[in-house]
Amino acid sequence: MWWRRGVVYEVYPRSFQDTDGDGVGDLRGVAGRMPYIADLGVDAIWLTPFFASPMRDFGYDISDHCAVDPSFGTLEDFDALVAAAHDHGIKVVLDFVPNHTSDLHPWFEASRSSRESAKRDWYIWRDGNPPNNWVAVFGGPAWEWDEATGQSYYHAYLPEQPDLDWRNPEVRGAMLAVLRFWKARGVDGFRVDAMRQVLKDPSLRDNPRNPEHRGPASEYASLIPEFTTDLDEVQEVVAAIRSEIGDEHLFMAEVTAPIERLVRYYGAEGEGAHLPFNFHLIFNDWSADAIASLIERYESALPEGAWPNWVLGNHDQSRVASRVGPGQARVAAMLLLTLRGTPTIYFGDELGMVDVEVPPERVVDPAGRDPERSPMPWTGEPGRGFCAAGVEPWLPFGDASLNAAAQEADPRSMLALHRRLLALRRDSDDLAEGAYATLVAGPEVLAYRRGTGTAVALNLTGAPAVAPVRGEIVLTTELDGREGERVDGGLALRPGEGAILREGA
Ligand code: GLC
Repeated sequence: MWWRRGVVYEVYPRSFQDTDGDGVGDLRGVAGRMPYIADLGVDAIWLTPFFASPMRDFGYDISDHCAVDPSFGTLEDFDALVAAAHDHGIKVVLDFVPNHTSDLHPWFEASRSSRESAKRDWYIWRDGNPPNNWVAVFGGPAWEWDEATGQSYYHAYLPEQPDLDWRNPEVRGAMLAVLRFWKARGVDGFRVDAMRQVLKDPSLRDNPRNPEHRGPASEYASLIPEFTTDLDEVQEVVAAIRSEIGDEHLFMAEVTAPIERLVRYYGAEGEGAHLPFNFHLIFNDWSADAIASLIERYESALPEGAWPNWVLGNHDQSRVASRVGPGQARVAAMLLLTLRGTPTIYFGDELGMVDVEVPPERVVDPAGRDPERSPMPWTGEPGRGFCAAGVEPWLPFGDASLNAAAQEADPRSMLALHRRLLALRRDSDDLAEGAYATLVAGPEVLAYRRGTGTAVALNLTGAPAVAPVRGEIVLTTELDGREGERVDGGLALRPGEGAILREGA
């Protein structure tokens, strides 16, 4: 179970490295950056979808699950990427999107062709326009009327992403075969998309209104998705996917749910996900006491034997450095990489990338997620080392001064901090596997012990604070020479400063 001590790095291939001059990143680009990924000190990359797709949802609308989209390269490029990763000791985790396909997938084209099609009930067709009140995640009705066959089909996301019917055994068989295809090509695991969405109420009961919602009724949050997400039976699909993925390959699952529901996705022994993503830090108040209580709630909700995980950013959320602000970005990194459990780092967060403003004429994502998908700035040059100078990147770049080359040259940079944190974590049994215990929970400082002798103290405010911890400092967020300092009567932390200490030293 390599992922227990491992750290996962999320690569959004469109935005990582372009090698073929179209302003869109590709698989050769990812393969070529493997030395950087290995130097960073992570253990695995999770590649978001690069499969054949009309790109209405930038790859999450798949038209062939076993083919590489030409904009990303070829299957041979993929094989070369896996080989390059493995040569560098890096595991490769793929995105698996079971809930829906593209409307241009041959399965859906057959399904919509007639009510008699053998693939009609591979998707969810019902009478009525619309059949009930369900709303799509990206807004608007979750049903699309099909004039030709006089029925509506269900789509949890875009109308171009019709939902498969996982109650149909043929669908299950065909989708589980996709996992076998990629396993045979040498991948090390899967991140399963939209896991809680895969089954919907067969009797199509209306979702209840959300009394707390203030905006238009067409918005997803206007209803409580009781009959469209997280049905108890979803656990059977989780178990089916787990039995295909097995014990040697990693099964991460995208699950947005309250902690008590989230932890059910660990399942019974051998039947659940290894790591149901824990997104709660993203949505939590950024204060010492609120974070401490989240950690404790999560830790105590974990079932026997379940291994925790933490996420601070991904391709769907505003960048962490933008959310918490520049003064807290280093504390956020230290928190993520010193909590108990497998962390996922979103590409570019190791540089402190921020959301990039996208002028209206360059907006491409229907759900407004362009700002966090701006391409990786490898250098400060035109093209940023992401694409050739003169090539228009698919999304605009941010400020030129924030780039990997500049940070490589700066021993106190955010990149340097990530490398130091990752190296320390790798060498420390306390940080990698030790138990968690809160030492101080606010109001200014969050401090905790990992294992038997490692303390972490974080100043969650913009003012100086004192943390009642003792020991010898092994690393601080500022990387300005406090290592080796002995602390007896309380650790003075500057605004937004964090420190790791060896206790009893
Ligand atoms: C997941 C993905 C998101 C995508 C959606 C539909 O939430 O992370 O990017 O739009 O599923 O596939």
